[in-house]
Amino acid sequence: MSQPTPTTTTSSSTPWWKTAAIYQIYPASFKDSNGDGIGDLPGIIGKLDYIQSLGVDAIWLCPMYDSPQHDMGYDISDYEAVYAPYGTVADVETLIAACHERGMRILLDLVINHTSDQHAWFKESRSSKTNPKRNWYIWRPARYDADGTRRPPNNWRSTFGGSAWEWDEETQEYYLHLFAVQQPDLNWELSETRVAIYESAVEFWLRKGIDGFRVDTVNMYSKPLDFPDAPVIDPTLDCQPAYSLYCNGPRIHEFLRELGHILQRYNAMTVGELPHTPRMADVLDYVSAKQKQLSMVFQFDLVDIGFGAGLRYDTSPRNWTLSDLRARVARTQALVDGSTDGWSTTFLENHDQARSVSRFGCDDAVTHPELWERSAKMLAMFVASLSGTLFVYQGQEIGMANAPADWDIEEEYKDLDSLNYYNYVKEHRRDDPGALARAKAALAHLARDHGRMPMQWDATPNAGFTTASAKPWMRVHDNYPTLNVKRQVHRPASVLAFWRELLRVRRANAAVFAEGVFADTDASNEAVFVFEKRAVQQKLVVALNFTADRQVVDLAASLGGTYKTLLKNYEEEPLDALQPYEGRIYLVQ
Ligand code: GLC
Repeated sequence: MSQPTPTTTTSSSTPWWKTAAIYQIYPASFKDSNGDGIGDLPGIIGKLDYIQSLGVDAIWLCPMYDSPQHDMGYDISDYEAVYAPYGTVADVETLIAACHERGMRILLDLVINHTSDQHAWFKESRSSKTNPKRNWYIWRPARYDADGTRRPPNNWRSTFGGSAWEWDEETQEYYLHLFAVQQPDLNWELSETRVAIYESAVEFWLRKGIDGFRVDTVNMYSKPLDFPDAPVIDPTLDCQPAYSLYCNGPRIHEFLRELGHILQRYNAMTVGELPHTPRMADVLDYVSAKQKQLSMVFQFDLVDIGFGAGLRYDTSPRNWTLSDLRARVARTQALVDGSTDGWSTTFLENHDQARSVSRFGCDDAVTHPELWERSAKMLAMFVASLSGTLFVYQGQEIGMANAPADWDIEEEYKDLDSLNYYNYVKEHRRDDPGALARAKAALAHLARDHGRMPMQWDATPNAGFTTASAKPWMRVHDNYPTLNVKRQVHRPASVLAFWRELLRVRRANAAVFAEGVFADTDASNEAVFVFEKRAVQQKLVVALNFTADRQVVDLAASLGGTYKTLLKNYEEEPLDALQPYEGRIYLVQ
């Protein structure tokens, strides 16, 4: 990549999404309007004024389609229908109109690597080998050992554990599922299947006026057709992670250009989920403007920090270093430094991640409220000062925290990924006495469940998420009487008020916040992260203390010239020290 050049000012030809802040909603856990314990579309519509008041430009709604909910709606049984507990297609239409009335845009989640096994297409496909839809999914014969034992077609492990192949007794073949057994992979090789996907999952909703899609697992649609075995990463497992084989496959860009043609007709923006793609040149293939595939992608370099390589949760809590984190930031920021025609995103949380205060700050809002609040604001400054389109996940704006570590996993956790892992350790690591305790600690730190707990609206029972007498689908965090929207909404020093101000300041200085060129000032510092963002006429200096201790710094050198403080989370601002979890953003002219 050539020498980065700062972009001039944000011009009117800049697409809306480059400088946007987008708020992600997880329908099950946002707001329940009818007392059945699960969130719904009328609940979301009722909170749109709140969302607008944050100062965001758009919402991204996680899947609200009809689904048996094995994977919280990422297993879709009908693209053109809505999961009944969430509401109806008419409710989505109302939501689209209500967003647009408020000047906000709306993205839906596009899940087209797989469907539910309850989708009519799969039911047909599995009904017989001669069904016209048989090849809409990926079926393969068994392999047999010398002793006649039946084996799956290869050794691939599904993302959620176990083989990626499921035997179908009726038709005597295996089907591929890169995720749960109930999520068979669609066969993108057939143009007939792709046309059906475009018509049902894509255009049905574009015609209703949505502004774009978050595109699920966007790099997995094209599989290597010889389905080779994956290299053995962990010999104790009978199935091996095979991301390097099925991510970024041979025809992926052809497929995405085809999809891109449709999206461009509607002027729709897209943000693809791009896991397991470490090489920047490969990322650029997806988002280079001239390729006309996707507007931007989520790169996982940053949020994947501290995860295990084989089994994701085989890791110890807090095994990340600041130098590693900053290297990951530098790598992903390189895509948006003006040296490429690509674009990217900045985010710390989503529905697949634990809460950022629990991973990188202090999450004890009850006994250490000050540290918690400072760290939530410091992390907000961190993520919002990076270039790219900013995504904020529901609850992040009030500093929501992971579930307490003593919650019973079998009782309170709902995510199949967490539970599969937990049960795997329980069954297969009996001879390792510490294994279960380590698994519990890792899940308490990193499980997807933490981001999926009900939104904490107020201090009434069930945090105002649902009625007092209802049983929420997932347990509400015990800290809700202290940590909730209502307590923060009118308090000028709250995390929520800070986010509002931050988003206002980001928008007012978009050229340097969203499009500035990132430079780390001291990549090896393990306590304090000071970085610069350069635009043509100005630069930001962002100083962040990632520790709970006071740290000595020398900011005078970086500041030079005339500067003003745009945001900070402590009153005093000496240039030679940062207090615990202190953060400051300076604008240097
Ligand atoms: C994506 C989603 C995740 C889901 C998976 C399978 O990673 O974000 O929640 O489980 O795809 O669809």
